[in-house]
Amino acid sequence: MSNAKVYPVPDDIRKNAHITKETYQEMYQRSLDDPEGFWGEQAEKFLDWFSKWDKVYHSDLKNGDIRFFEGGKMNVAHNCLDRHLEKRGDQTAIIWEGDDPNNSEHITYKDLHERVCRLANAMKARGVKKGDRVCIYLPMIPEAAVAMLACARIGAIHSIVFGGFSPDALKDRIQNADCETVITADEGVRGGRNVALKSNADKALESCPDVKNVFVVKRTGGDIDWKDGRDIWYHEAVADVSADCPAEQMDSEDPLFILYTSGSTGKPKGVQHCSAGYLLGAAMTHKYVFDYQEGEVYWCTADVGWVTGHSYIVYGPLANGATTLMFEGVPTYPDASRCWDVVDKHNVSIFYTAPTALRALMGQGDEYVTKTSRKSLRILGTVGEPINPEAWEWYYKVVGDSRCPIVDTWWQTETGSILIAPLPGATDLKPGSATLPFFGVEPALVDAEGKELEGACDGNLVIKRAWPSMMRTVYGDHKRFMETYLSAYPGMYFTGDGARRDEDGYYWITGRVDDVINVSGHRMGTAEVESALVLHDSVAEAAVVGYPHDIKGQGIYAYVTLMAGVEPTDELKKELVKLVSNEIGPIAKPDVIQWAPGLPKTRSGKIMRRILRKVAANELDSLGDTSTLADPTVVDNLIEDRETK
Ligand code: WT7
Repeated sequence: MSNAKVYPVPDDIRKNAHITKETYQEMYQRSLDDPEGFWGEQAEKFLDWFSKWDKVYHSDLKNGDIRFFEGGKMNVAHNCLDRHLEKRGDQTAIIWEGDDPNNSEHITYKDLHERVCRLANAMKARGVKKGDRVCIYLPMIPEAAVAMLACARIGAIHSIVFGGFSPDALKDRIQNADCETVITADEGVRGGRNVALKSNADKALESCPDVKNVFVVKRTGGDIDWKDGRDIWYHEAVADVSADCPAEQMDSEDPLFILYTSGSTGKPKGVQHCSAGYLLGAAMTHKYVFDYQEGEVYWCTADVGWVTGHSYIVYGPLANGATTLMFEGVPTYPDASRCWDVVDKHNVSIFYTAPTALRALMGQGDEYVTKTSRKSLRILGTVGEPINPEAWEWYYKVVGDSRCPIVDTWWQTETGSILIAPLPGATDLKPGSATLPFFGVEPALVDAEGKELEGACDGNLVIKRAWPSMMRTVYGDHKRFMETYLSAYPGMYFTGDGARRDEDGYYWITGRVDDVINVSGHRMGTAEVESALVLHDSVAEAAVVGYPHDIKGQGIYAYVTLMAGVEPTDELKKELVKLVSNEIGPIAKPDVIQWAPGLPKTRSGKIMRRILRKVAANELDSLGDTSTLADPTVVDNLIEDRETK
């Protein structure tokens, strides 16, 4: 796109930035030419070590064997807390902004350290030890960060399940990771409404007999059921123990956490991340991509249930001794000014959110933004999906008053930290492009056969070498790790995304090339939604695709074939939506259900999703070749019914 608008680096940003155009070029080249030297230096600079590693890295993408700083001893909680105490014990580590605008709290590094030590001791007292898996099912309250760091402190592996997931989804994740401990709350609070967490957990735990401890944070004091012997009030457990808990000496490669994410097939996989390499990636990108400066308040609006919350609310910022803001509520409560009110209230310098939130706010009108000051803002960021230029321009002009660079950050749960993004002091911006690779990241575009494409082109996005925060395996299923990411193009990591590279070497992510859809920046496997739909007695078959949605980016479009003799009714549609919500969570609810007496299939019985996507998007002129269909009239019927649905 040679005619794309370019926004050069502003002078005032460049002058004080950690990285400029020259240093970016130099450091990037060095990171590829001398990875040993480069990563060794960065690991010394960003992390605190109990003892040094034996070898900087070992990378074998062909066999999925990736190790960084092996033999080195460190602890993630020590790096996020203890090492800061001397210099910044009284500095705010976390600003917590409650759902209710009158409710906020400042937690210093010293306070946070004590809270983490206490919970760590409370878990130890109940037998939790290094290597055990702990499920965290919490709302956006400080205890979520405390729980993560307490696990890290004693070497337990946390598995956070987003509070919006259903009891069934929670059960699957607890079982898959063999968690014996769960940390939850009585209820969460979002947008003025209470969300039942403990009762969801109780339902899930009916099928998880191995869970021995359930720590319950009292957030609202609402009515909950209690199982004596298993359930423990969090506040009582932490009051009973010492505030001193030495950090466990962990190997760099010891797992830090598991986080489940959807793929094109099967149930969600437990993406497993390690300790040192992960933390290095989170810390480096937090400092350089957001150009974080000492003393600034940094706000990432994600939920800790997603990887963005892991890396950019908790681990990256705290490793850097930053002040990180954690927000319990939603951008539209009490009204659409909330984000900007919070920016003014807490003097936020760096604001990181998702395009879907921007599109929703944009729709409410500029007034909600312009009536606030926002003069503290310096850098803006986006993540989760491609940002359409219209939303980008609005973010830039209206939110940032044309002063603040926007960093469009491309990465994934699997990558652990940002891989492609501008650096505010170094990279000229083009709206809609994630721009250039971060240090040590070697992206490439390949065709379907795996042939690397050169110059300006379009292709499948792969990464040609390992980076420190890369996932190490799928929990309990290394074969699946290999098949999903490392087999399509041997020797390279396959992202599942398509991308275009322009003549300046800038990357433009075009979206998933597999059967994964991106709903409001959240990944959803079409197969998961289909499996939920076919659980209904009246459903014979279901096919789910994504379609363009103004706010969500992609919406969920389900074609459903009913059992013979079943009457298609609106009532039944409602039942199906509810079923999906119960099985997975409200985020997986289909936006559209179309009754489909037949689905377009090849003669060998394979559903032709390409055609279903076109019909859903109403792109009826470009259906492509339908001659290989077993019954081409099926498509005509779908098109006809589309109009009347
Ligand atoms: C998928 C990863 C990692 C944070 C949140 C999502 C899409 C992510 C961008 C971006 C275009 C993006 C990709 C990717 N994606 N960031 N800046 N531009 N697309 O994490 O749930 O693991 O999803 O989100 O398709 O593969 P995730």
